[in-house]
Amino acid sequence: MPSELARHFVLDPEVVFLNHGSYGACPRVVLEKQSELRVRMEREPVLFLAREQEKLLDGARGVLGELVGADPDDLAFVKNASTGVSTVVRSLDLRPGDELLTTSHAYNACHNALRAQERRGVKVVAAEVPFPIRSSSEVVEAVLARASPRTRLALIDHVTSPTGLIFPVAEIVRALEARGIDSIVDGAHVPGMLPLDLRALSPAYYTGNCHKWVCTPKGCAFLFVRRDRQEAILPLTISHGYNAARTDRSRFRLLFDVTGTDDPTAVLCLGDSIRFLESLLPGGFPALMRRNRALALEARALLCKTLGIEEPAPESMIGSLATIPLPDGPAEPLQRALWEKRRIEVPVWSFPSVPRRILRVSAQAYNSIDDYAALAGALPSML
Ligand SMILES: Cc1ncc(COP(=O)(O)O)c(C=O)c1O
Repeated sequence: MPSELARHFVLDPEVVFLNHGSYGACPRVVLEKQSELRVRMEREPVLFLAREQEKLLDGARGVLGELVGADPDDLAFVKNASTGVSTVVRSLDLRPGDELLTTSHAYNACHNALRAQERRGVKVVAAEVPFPIRSSSEVVEAVLARASPRTRLALIDHVTSPTGLIFPVAEIVRALEARGIDSIVDGAHVPGMLPLDLRALSPAYYTGNCHKWVCTPKGCAFLFVRRDRQEAILPLTISHGYNAARTDRSRFRLLFDVTGTDDPTAVLCLGDSIRFLESLLPGGFPALMRRNRALALEARALLCKTLGIEEPAPESMIGSLATIPLPDGPAEPLQRALWEKRRIEVPVWSFPSVPRRILRVSAQAYNSIDDYAALAGALPSML
């Protein structure tokens, strides 16, 4: 039986959709709200973009501050987490011989934001984190073992993309800070999957997406920059804020709020997305996060049993994503066959490298255990 909550989404009912993690999925009511906002914008573009937008963005930033536990003055809206990471890396005054640290589980596009600095003579260091993994302390040990006096910044995933693991970021951020190393935490999957309190975590930088687990339209993401680091951080696109004479708003806000003409409607739907998710279960958003996590764990248990393997990570490292090691082989043909022959949308990747393979499932409101049973039924004959 499909999830009773699937009717709220416009997802194709013919597809077993197990990849919320890549791009999220936006509910119907939120898409309708976005369409209304777009009509309002196009009815009088100057009124909307030049006179009303600033106040509307301030409202959305207040909502975001509540969601992620931050002072809205420390938050900038960006299009996506990739932009958040690039914004920070490209703002730093890096010199030849400087090191940028990350892990072997980093998202490739964000890892590339570091690699692009190799042109300046910067060295990128990737700490090897095992998978399967026995304990989150293995992550802390791996990262600290590769930190050096030359490390200028560490890019640490809060929830990893290929392996769907919750990394112990609080411990890592503190330990690196004690060595004088700033972190940018890649929390692309965190808003809506895990509770977040940026005041308590207090990293130098944190970026997160709302278009994944908060189900906003695409293009709603944020960059948190701690107050003592804001002066050095410039948006990738410089616009009017750079020489604005206004003193009623921080320079950080003036720089990031206007980066050229753009469609802000995804951001302006943030409150609607949160209200929608809160309305789904009697316990609100926390209940939905618990439900999704329980479903991801149930799915993982089913798939591991089907494949006759041990669960590859402790439960404490699992949120709404679960990654399962597969027998060695080519990844892309399996992913394509699952979609073409069974209409199952699920990512299969070579990880950590060819020929090793993993498969990642997501659990969101529209999923039910039957979706994973369909995958478990299909896998043995297709492997
Ligand atoms: C860990 C992680 N970081 C960053 C991203 C990039 O997100 P976006 O494409 O929205 O920039 C993803 C996307 O899946 C991700 O999983």
